[in-house]
Amino acid sequence: MKGIVLAGGSGTRLHPITKAVSKQLLPIYDKPLVYYPLSVLMLAGIREVLVVSTPRDLPAFRELLGDGAELGMRLKYAEQAEPRGLAEAFTIGRDFLAGEPCALVLGDNMFHGKDLTELLLNAKARVETEGGAVVFGYPVQDPRAFGVVEFDSRHRVVGIEEKPEHPKSKFAVPGLYFYDGQVSDIAANVKPSARGELEITSVNNAYLDKEQLSVELMGRGMAWLDTGTPEGLLKAAEYVEAVQSRQGYYIACLEEIAYRRAFIGAAELRKLGESLKKTAYGKYLLSIADEAEEI
Ligand code: DAU
Repeated sequence: MKGIVLAGGSGTRLHPITKAVSKQLLPIYDKPLVYYPLSVLMLAGIREVLVVSTPRDLPAFRELLGDGAELGMRLKYAEQAEPRGLAEAFTIGRDFLAGEPCALVLGDNMFHGKDLTELLLNAKARVETEGGAVVFGYPVQDPRAFGVVEFDSRHRVVGIEEKPEHPKSKFAVPGLYFYDGQVSDIAANVKPSARGELEITSVNNAYLDKEQLSVELMGRGMAWLDTGTPEGLLKAAEYVEAVQSRQGYYIACLEEIAYRRAFIGAAELRKLGESLKKTAYGKYLLSIADEAEEI
């Protein structure tokens, strides 16, 4: 399975913070926002990832993440000329995907929780073996800003509505989606919505119409953090700081995940730690390399 991180958009809802810099490059405590969604793909065991962003911001992502070799990954980059909608990721990524299944994560979505890795591995395995699509449902108090799942009286999914005025459930669909090899063709047939966007919700409803969509509900132990407002950014940073300082485990430390997933070995991890050793982040990497060598 391949992965796509969609990290474009106009960022106007966060102006002036994002007037000159991409939203997905803003710091969330000790690392850029894009590390968090990229870490989710890595936790799913995905090593080949396409990063999609604007012509202005793509060079900065390339500078930050490079070709991925240091992490034992293969990273590619593609421009989205205009923010025409999330579904465009699959037509932009058509050659990259070459008909393989893929996971799409939005570059501003953060997830953390005990069952996250299991959830990801199950979704990946399901799409790889059975085909179709897997998306998630996450309970939120006010789902009006999201794609919202509609269930019938027997709890079967009957539709997903994008930003409904009157949501039919409290289950929002987070920005993490798993699709089989049909997705580029399905996305190519999506028509712009009333607000003029190629909606990911239209892709999901197309799978639902074919009875090939599975919606997995995320439980209480999962954090899906908002990064859409200045308060959301601050609270997300506070969450990361609180968990990291209390537990001593980092959230979305790409080098650690690469090591634990065996994309790289302890010697490579140590080298990455050495290059960052003036920071707490670099010292953390070195401490994991030390542990590895003690075993
Ligand atoms: O966060 C989950 C929600 O994301 C879903 O529940 C919705 O169904 C989905 O439409 C989307 O809603 P948003 O209103 O959050 O989408 P937004 O326009 O903010 O874009 C999400 C991210 O994708 C953001 O970081 C910018 C980026 N983006 C957006 C568009 C429209 C792109 O890279 N290209 C685009 O064309």
